Amino acid sequence: MTSAPRTRVLTGITTTGTPHLGNYVGAIRPTVQASRDPGTDGFYFLADYHALIKCDDPARIQRSTMEIAASWIAAGLDPDKVTFYRQSDIPEIPELTWFLTCVTGKGLLNRAHAYKAAMDKNHAAGHDTDADVTAGLFMYPVLMGADILMFKAHKVPVGRDQIQHIEMARDMASSFNHLYGEHFVLPEAVVEESVALLPGLDGRKMSKSYDNTIPLFAPAAQLRKLIMGIVTDSKAPGEPKSTEGSALFQIYQAFASNEETAALAKAYAEGIAWGDAKQILFERIDREVGPMREKYEALIANPAELDRILLAGAEKARRLATPFIRELRQAVGLRPLALASGTESATKDEKPALSTFKQYREKDGRFYFKLVTPQGQVLLQSVGFDSPREAGQLIARLQQEGAKALSTGKQHFPDLSLDNERLATQELEKIIQFK
Ligand code: TRP
Repeated sequence: MTSAPRTRVLTGITTTGTPHLGNYVGAIRPTVQASRDPGTDGFYFLADYHALIKCDDPARIQRSTMEIAASWIAAGLDPDKVTFYRQSDIPEIPELTWFLTCVTGKGLLNRAHAYKAAMDKNHAAGHDTDADVTAGLFMYPVLMGADILMFKAHKVPVGRDQIQHIEMARDMASSFNHLYGEHFVLPEAVVEESVALLPGLDGRKMSKSYDNTIPLFAPAAQLRKLIMGIVTDSKAPGEPKSTEGSALFQIYQAFASNEETAALAKAYAEGIAWGDAKQILFERIDREVGPMREKYEALIANPAELDRILLAGAEKARRLATPFIRELRQAVGLRPLALASGTESATKDEKPALSTFKQYREKDGRFYFKLVTPQGQVLLQSVGFDSPREAGQLIARLQQEGAKALSTGKQHFPDLSLDNERLATQELEKIIQFK
């Protein structure tokens, strides 16, 4: 059975806070929705190594990890359909971070927005350029690059502020590929333009840094109380009210259908009392969030179950990460000394015994080639070509592009087994590396 390759979509959530309605509308809800697309292979993870850069309160890291994991699952993320894991359960990530560190220009990291903002703040305050800047903050983009490149993500949904990090991940991937052969997929940032930016209690963007958030899974009574505290103007009941610039109205819109929104607009024009409008908003949000809240509370009450889910996710993720890091260790030269012939050195001046291409003509008049190991094993057997030139061109591409040319040219090797494909890929990488 063949199926179209799925698009690998990957995103991380830093575990420093409690999910609020803004996170739900801007990230959780659209991401959970997108994760249900059968053409998507979703990787979602709790970026707890990243959290350490911003937060030195162990209890808060742990609490946030639990709350975020429970929130995403309660909101409908299905851990059986996607790969949902904790970054710190994947020891291959820090190892890859180091490999990438060694191919990343320090100058590239100097230009990262977050680091530049920290320097600018220090300059403005008359402090030393790097005062209170940890190496962790400086290295943030490399750790994020490792998250993304480890799983060969095609698409990375992020907020605007993260686009630069994806571009840096591409730079790191290109540098590594250039030095060591094609190992990494170059990822692309996806910025969802249409999702609403939710205002908070005070009308500014809902954000932990403004202390104006409404927790996604606050108990119903608390949710209601917070909603009653959303800023409004001082118009009395009966006075027509403007939807323009009304935080209450904008929040309602993010949850309601078009008809419901039109009905509230009408009520505004007819002078609905603020207290009544807030009650309508509370009921509308609670209708969507209430059923999820039950699931959330059940998960929070059973952290061992959350651990189990996350560890199962990590196991799934490591089925890719473990062989891939092995391949990368091999590529950079961290490899058994007795590898291959046992006498070869890993330097470019002393070539190991390489597989070779043999071209020949059959009685049918057509031109064939095969890739043969030094021990005589045939790894690739081509179909017949009309001319030696066509066969030669394909050989040249295999010698230059390796795995990529093989994966796009499989129709020329109809009998290729998975084992031979894997071996041929390795041999082609060696040819590229040592030629
Ligand atoms: N830096 C991201 C944020 O603050 C979180 C994150 C960490 C991430 N690693 C990632 C996002 C990899 C996407 C891909 O939002």
